Amino acid sequence: MASSLSLTTTFKLNSGHAIPCIGFGVFHGHGEAVSNALKAGYRLLDTADFYNNEDDCGAAVRAFITETGCARSDIFYTTKLWNNNHGYTATAAAIDQALNRAGLDYIDLYLIHSPLSSPSGRLGSWQAMQDAVDAGKIKSIGVSNYGIHHLEELFAWDGFRITPAVNQVELHPWLARKELVEYCRSKGILMEAYCPVTRGVKFTDPTIVSLSKKYGVSPAQVLIRWSLQMGFVPLPKSNHAERIKTNIDVFGFEIDEADMKKLDTGKYEPIAAWDPVKSPL
Ligand SMILES: NC(=O)c1ccc[n+]([C@@H]2O[C@H](COP(=O)([O-])OP(=O)(O)OC[C@H]3O[C@@H](n4cnc5c(N)ncnc54)[C@H](OP(=O)(O)O)[C@@H]3O)[C@@H](O)[C@H]2O)c1
Repeated sequence: MASSLSLTTTFKLNSGHAIPCIGFGVFHGHGEAVSNALKAGYRLLDTADFYNNEDDCGAAVRAFITETGCARSDIFYTTKLWNNNHGYTATAAAIDQALNRAGLDYIDLYLIHSPLSSPSGRLGSWQAMQDAVDAGKIKSIGVSNYGIHHLEELFAWDGFRITPAVNQVELHPWLARKELVEYCRSKGILMEAYCPVTRGVKFTDPTIVSLSKKYGVSPAQVLIRWSLQMGFVPLPKSNHAERIKTNIDVFGFEIDEADMKKLDTGKYEPIAAWDPVKSPL
């Protein structure tokens, strides 16, 4: 139940591993922001090969563990396979490179960043990721920006063994993707929400402004709380220490049912520059 969520709440993935209910996005982020996030209480980090900061993220994780005595198992490190490394051989190599860049013994969650290659590319990658789970290099594997048709391709493939633990897609009140969310839930796939604060684009939306006043919180906090109450794992990003803190200060209020309905816009307004979920590839 959303009302009983706290910063330390975790969900059980279909892989059996626990994932924190909120995470820290690192697209255009850096090591200092990751350190601040860990100090503020975030335990889930979301980076990618494409973000060019896996080395900084890994260094921040290792430093935090050394400085605080936090167990590695209490930090959930996510990274992603970029599109140019689809296919078995390239993906197997990319996983080793991701581990080396981060300086970590294992990756908690490894995602195919997007389906933008080809059926053989995607399935070859999944084969390599399944094998990396067997080898202990990765705890859980998942996808990002996958539409229903991409998931059905995976389920129909004769090499399919491991169901994606998550599907990370753009999700906010202007892009709630009800059909995809329902489909993923029916398969036991958890939804992670990227662009959860709409990169600030919707901070002046009249409904957000009025809810922000009503609940006495910032527009970003309204949007992050919405995501939590929808059952998503939001991944807000910020490079500002103060925003990093306030973005997880979302467990002291609850958006009521009538207000959640006001946020049910039924719209399709992607904020990110892409939406590969729709790709017919
Ligand atoms: N899988 C994918 O294809 C994909 C695509 C996009 C994103 N992601 C992941 O999802 C994460 C989040 O998405 P995102 O970074 O695109 O968008 P976002 O988290 O919705 O927005 C981040 C932007 O909003 C600003 N911001 C954050 N909190 C704020 C606050 N409290 N007040 C004012 N401004 C605030 C940040 O600025 P400052 O940094 O200046 O505070 C930053 O410019 C990414 O970092 C990445 O990990 C994944």
